[in-house]
Amino acid sequence: MKKMGLMGAMPEEMEQIVAGMEQAEVQVHGNRKYYTGYLKGVPVVAVFSRWGKVAAATTATTLIELFGVNELVFTGVAGGVSACLSVGDIVVAERLIQHDMDARPLMPRYEVPLTGKQFFATDTALSKRVFDASAGMLRQEAGFLQQLRENGMGRPGLYSGDIASGDQFIGSTLVKEAIRDRLPTVLCVEMEGAAVAQVCHDFGVPLAVVRVISDTADESSHELAIQFVDRYAARYLHLIIEHYITENHT
Ligand code: ADE
Repeated sequence: MKKMGLMGAMPEEMEQIVAGMEQAEVQVHGNRKYYTGYLKGVPVVAVFSRWGKVAAATTATTLIELFGVNELVFTGVAGGVSACLSVGDIVVAERLIQHDMDARPLMPRYEVPLTGKQFFATDTALSKRVFDASAGMLRQEAGFLQQLRENGMGRPGLYSGDIASGDQFIGSTLVKEAIRDRLPTVLCVEMEGAAVAQVCHDFGVPLAVVRVISDTADESSHELAIQFVDRYAARYLHLIIEHYITENHT
């Protein structure tokens, strides 16, 4: 059976996942706590990645090299860049790009040196399973959706597309629009996914990235993101993972 790596970009979501694990044991490496155990009988290693591309890359590498995971699902929140996205929507990544990578004039903007690539694709089959699990969660978790409605949020949308990562929290309309103009296929921004995609590409490990929109990457994003993370994000992502495990492994 495959050993699944579960990386979360927030401590709160990992706490919920670890609370539901059987035979959970913790090991500390490189300043991270790796929880090994089982979710509904599926062997998993769960870890909070910390924030930013370097933290995410070292965590992903440890999951692969030290813990031997052979598929990786990365969860977290993101700022919406595309005008079609609202807070609470879910985005499953098709490809990831580092919006702050720029080695011009040596190579084209966004190209990761010596790879010839600007975009790193996620695994199509794994991403489809995570997309379907997210759809299942939106269909079946009536209580959670009711709670969102009572707090003034609409019915969440589910999208699949490109995500941009960079070592920058985007909290300015001008910066957001510059990213949108230069990278028109990008749906949302966060700070880790593209780094994990590069690591998984180098090691040949299938990856899926799923993000819930916590803010709109503009002047309101700081407050919005904190509020969303406090109230909903952990439950949201935990439900998606639960559905993923139930629909695929039981
Ligand atoms: N993660 C959540 N919101 C974000 C934003 N606005 N910029 C970067 N990463 C984020």
